[in-house]
Amino acid sequence: MAESPDKAKSSMAVIHLIEKRFLRQISNRPQIGRIGRIFADASRRAFRNQSFYESIYLCGDFCNSVAHSNRFCRMVAALCPRRDARKGITLAAMKTIMLQVNAAQPSAATIEQAAAMIRGGGLVAFPTETVYGLGADAMNEEAVQKIFTAKGRPADNPLIVHVSSRQMLERVADEISAQTKALIERFWAGPLTVVLRRKPEVAPTVSAGLQTIAVRMPKNKIALALIEKADTPIAAPSANFSGRPSPTTAAHVLADLDGRIDMILDGGATRIGIESTVIDMTASVPVILRPGWITREAIAEVIGEVRQAQSEDELKRSPGTRYRHYSPRARVVLLVGYAKESIEKICRESLEQSIIGFIGHTPITIDDSKIVVVPLSNSAEDYARHIYGAMRELDAQNPSVIVVEAISEEGEGAAVMERICRAASEIRITS
Ligand code: TXA
Ligand code: MG
Repeated sequence: MAESPDKAKSSMAVIHLIEKRFLRQISNRPQIGRIGRIFADASRRAFRNQSFYESIYLCGDFCNSVAHSNRFCRMVAALCPRRDARKGITLAAMKTIMLQVNAAQPSAATIEQAAAMIRGGGLVAFPTETVYGLGADAMNEEAVQKIFTAKGRPADNPLIVHVSSRQMLERVADEISAQTKALIERFWAGPLTVVLRRKPEVAPTVSAGLQTIAVRMPKNKIALALIEKADTPIAAPSANFSGRPSPTTAAHVLADLDGRIDMILDGGATRIGIESTVIDMTASVPVILRPGWITREAIAEVIGEVRQAQSEDELKRSPGTRYRHYSPRARVVLLVGYAKESIEKICRESLEQSIIGFIGHTPITIDDSKIVVVPLSNSAEDYARHIYGAMRELDAQNPSVIVVEAISEEGEGAAVMERICRAASEIRITS
């Protein structure tokens, strides 16, 4: 069942080529628009589905069929594993161990088992207060590379390093300013990630070629105990397959990464539910690269002036923001400012053969079993905690559309709405 490392590497290379070349460039070129569309579709599947190799074969087949007319396709065709070699290539079939951990009082023996796995270069998914992370020893290059393979993550998207103390921060970051110290004092342990100058000892792949490193101290007993026991900073992106919604339970992690990672620590549902705020402290005026539970206003209270990343150039500093994220497989339609009757009308109109999902705070009453409703209360807390799980739950029922009702963008609502907007293919605003 094992997959040869060379094949895995070449498959990843294909995925990265597709991501880089097609999604960002070729789809803009009208003369090869059709190829671009087919590729965009295939690569979306590769990123979202677990039938990872199926998508690669699809790309390979397609490239072979048009290789005569397009140089890039010839290149991809050469890189793709041949379909007839398929029997020899399956997903790396490691056994994923699931361990239950008491979130209030993690068992020392379980933490030790997970810490040994991290020290040995393995991959361990663990809960944080935001979402589940997929951890590896941040100082071990080979271990960090495994994260990218397991997640199908684009190679140019750097990882957040998790520490359990201020001393550990100094093992990975340099030039920690007074402003940064003040932020850390106020918000750590907690959902705030600071981008700082990196130390050379950190595995290079963690930063994906940047001179900076993103660091945070999570506020979760299991996470802190694991980092402390492993006695090494832990690089951990969200523990979802790349492009899928972030996992807020161990079951979500298992659904995406079973057989691809060594271990999952099941500490129950995460408390906040959306990812941390990321702030670049290397800029002259600190820049928020990703909004999160710690709001811009709360940060400004501590350090004064702070900006929200806006230009393309600024967003390039946080490569993750370039990718479409947090997406279920179904098309997501976001409704802003609609009343109950209008929501019901839109839901009814969206009904095709298959079912549709509705996530919202307005209690709609449509007597049709093809509409599956996940009710949430009208608060940033409830939306943050349940939005990803709701999308996953609905997605499992194969709806044609998931309709999501907006909440206010005040305070923490801004971060929640940012995630929903990224998942949405369509945003409808009442006039
Ligand atoms: O709450 C969280 O932050 C979770 C938990 C597990 O800690 N982690 C998480 O990681 O969301 P991930 O990899 O899914 O998102 C990390 C984000 C990406 O947008 C990435 O581009 C950005 O942080 N990032 C990482 N290192 C960076 C750096 N050196 N400079 C700028 N952005 C960086
Ligand atoms: Mg993520």
